[in-house]
This record gives sequence, structure tokens and C-alpha cells, in this order.
Amino acid sequence: MLAAVEFTQASKGVAFLALLGLAFSWAVLPFLQKRRQKSKVVDSAPDEPLFQTPLPTPLENFDLGSKEPQPYRPFRHGTTHVTMGIRKLDWDNWIEIDSNYLSYHDLKVSELNKDLAAHVGYVDNADTRDACFEIYEELTQYLCHRYPKMFQLKDGKLNNLLTSEVFPYPAATPTDALATSAKLIQDDIVLMVKEDDGQYHVDAAAVCLPGFWRLKEKFRMSLDELHIEAGVPHYQTKLQKSMNRFFQTMRPEKPVTRNNFFIQLDDGLHWSHRMGDQKGNEVASWATANSASLTVDELHFRSERQTLRRLPRSKAIVFTIRTYFEPIPVIAKEPHVPGRLAEAIRNWDESMSHYKGKTHWDKILLPYLDEQHEKQMESGILEKHPEAEFPY
Ligand code: HEM
Repeated sequence: MLAAVEFTQASKGVAFLALLGLAFSWAVLPFLQKRRQKSKVVDSAPDEPLFQTPLPTPLENFDLGSKEPQPYRPFRHGTTHVTMGIRKLDWDNWIEIDSNYLSYHDLKVSELNKDLAAHVGYVDNADTRDACFEIYEELTQYLCHRYPKMFQLKDGKLNNLLTSEVFPYPAATPTDALATSAKLIQDDIVLMVKEDDGQYHVDAAAVCLPGFWRLKEKFRMSLDELHIEAGVPHYQTKLQKSMNRFFQTMRPEKPVTRNNFFIQLDDGLHWSHRMGDQKGNEVASWATANSASLTVDELHFRSERQTLRRLPRSKAIVFTIRTYFEPIPVIAKEPHVPGRLAEAIRNWDESMSHYKGKTHWDKILLPYLDEQHEKQMESGILEKHPEAEFPY
């Protein structure tokens, strides 16, 4: 009797396990397979039709002189959590052009004329050469549609009607494609190409306004090497996995954007001379920074608007870096800014404070921001101007 009961119990157990197995293969396995398929690299399907980049809405009445730079102030109330911080990018807004265009353009041209090889480079292989030509094609298509009063493509020439520059189209060489691309927009451009190690590397770039790094220092570095070497706080614990996964799986139809900010010790848009000598060979960093007898008027708010897209044909990832640059006393006049900026800085942890060079400028900046915030509270301006949404 006992044996029969035990047998029944055992067979019930087996049946239960069999049912569980069935349920797993019906419900869970397809889900796992789907996930695996989803995370497969996108650049492995050569027979897929190429994604056509959507044309942006034309700004027919675009008036460069009256288009103020976007006032991105990407610092938040409360604790800052380290995340990738990416948001969806609308195709219309890939490249922003504003009233500072000519000064950025002229500075870029002067940097390129001084030393082309220091600012423009590519790895000489078929994929990377193609990516250089493709970024120029994508920019030409975008700019001619978005800013038709400024850029026109006619008889194999791209015309910049503002500067009267005329560029051959298509470009003759990858270097021409990159250098011309740099002159068309206010952004710096980096092309991340997948190498044989399966990682994305800085394999082509046109970088004229980096502030405190040189292209030769980052050239061919992988995404991980770049960020580890720069000492990005919490990279290995909070960012590395998601960023690499993002690069492997990013699709051409899903561009993204992110914003950051730094406090800079001087007014050098292309190069911060207080961080080191541009002509020297020493890597510029907070360790080499000279903050002696600094005044608040020298301090600048340096904020990058970055975009990331996968190019449909070459499959390279384009990283654009547009720097917005303002003296601290200018942005401190904006309602809510001094109070929120001081709060964000005080909330940085040890590693973020070190990365951002806080000890070089905090004794000058924080009392100044507190004073400006106090004035704003007393004036009643904060009630009159409600605070906007991130990135502010
Ligand atoms: C999803 C893409 C990316 C994410 C989430 C990301 C994230 C970050 C973060 C959090 C930092 C610290 C400063 C900041 O907040 O921006 C940083 C710094 C940096 N990133 Fe990235 N990054 C990305 C792509 C790239 C790419 C494609 C490059 C290629 C050049 C790059 C180059 C750098 C460099 C050079 C720094 C150091 C800047 C400095 O401190 O001087 N990043 N990145």
C-alpha cells in the first residue's frame, strides 16, 4: 500500500516535471530565442535593403543671425545617477546651426589650415574609406534639405551660400570628405568602425574643437579604451556593458542624442590652454591644469550635444560632438541656473568631482553661484519663469 502511494506520488512528480518542461518550451524558450535574435549584431545582414535616411523638414525661412544657440543646461536637481543618458533624436534635428556658425567655421578652418593631419585622419581600409564618403553624403543631403537657403548641391558642387565656399561632390578622397564635412557644420565628427576584435574604434575623425584632447591620442582606440583612459567615473561598473551592447545593436533608423557639461578654466573653444600646451605632446588633464589666480570671468560652461547614428551603407557609427560654450557669468543670469548648477556640483560623488577637476575651480565658482542664486530668489524672477524640462 505504502509502495503504491509512493509510486503514485512519484508519478505525479514526474508528470509535474514533464508539464513544467512543456510549459518552458512553449512559453519561455521562444521568448529567450527572440531576445537572442534581438541582441544580434545589426551589421550582419547583407541582404537587407539599405535604410533610407529620412529627409528633414526644410527651414525655408531660416535666419542664421537671429537663431540663438540652444541653451542646453544639462544638470539636474538631486543626485546624479550615472547612466548612458541617451534620448531619441528627431531626424529634423540631427545637426543644429545657429548665430555662432561663422565663428565656429572660421576657427575650424584656421585649425585645419594650421595642421590638417592633427585634426583629420582615417584608417586606410575599404570600410572606413566608405564611411568617410558616406558621412559627407549624409551631411550634404541633410543640410541641403534642412537649410536650403544656406546649402545647395548643383552640377557636382556643394555650395555654402553663406561663406561662398564651393566643394566638389562627391569628394575626391576620404580626407577631403572629412575636412569638407568639418567645414560644413559646427560639430566635430568621429566615425566608430567595427574592427576584427568585434569592438568599435575611433577609425576616422574630423576633430577641430575638442577642448582638451588630441585626435592622435584617441585614434584607433576602442570604446572601452577611450573611456577607461579618460577616467570616466563608474565606467566599468555602470556604463561599459550597456554602451558596448548599444553599439553592437544600434540600428540606422534609431538615432540618439545626449548632453554633458564641464567647467573650463579659460575661453579656448578649440583648446583650453590652462589644461596644457596645444603644441606640446603632453596629454592635457586636470593633473597638468594651471588654475593659478583664476577669476570667475575666465570660467566657462562647456556643454556638448552629442548625436549617434549608424550609417546605413558602411555601418559605421557617426558620433557628432557639438560644443556649446558660454562664460559662467552669462549663464548665471538665467533664471534657476546658478541655483541648480551649484546643487548638481555639490551632489557629485568623489570620483565625479575628481573627473571634473572640481578642486581647481570650486572655491571661485560655488560662492559666485550661491550669490547669484540668492539675488534671483530676492528678485522674484524664479516665480515669473517656471523651470523647463531636462536637458533644460
Ligand atoms: C552611447 C555613447 C556614449 C556614451 C553613453 C558615453 C559616455 C561618456 C561619459 C559619461 C563620459 C564622461 C563625460 C560625460 O558625461 O560625457 C564620456 C567621456 C568621454 N567620451 Fe564618451 N560616451 C559615448 C560615446 C563616445 C564616443 C563614440 C566617443 C568617441 C570619441 C567618446 C569619447 C569620449 C571621450 C574622449 C571622453 C572624455 C572627455 C574628457 O573627459 O575629456 N564617447 N563619455
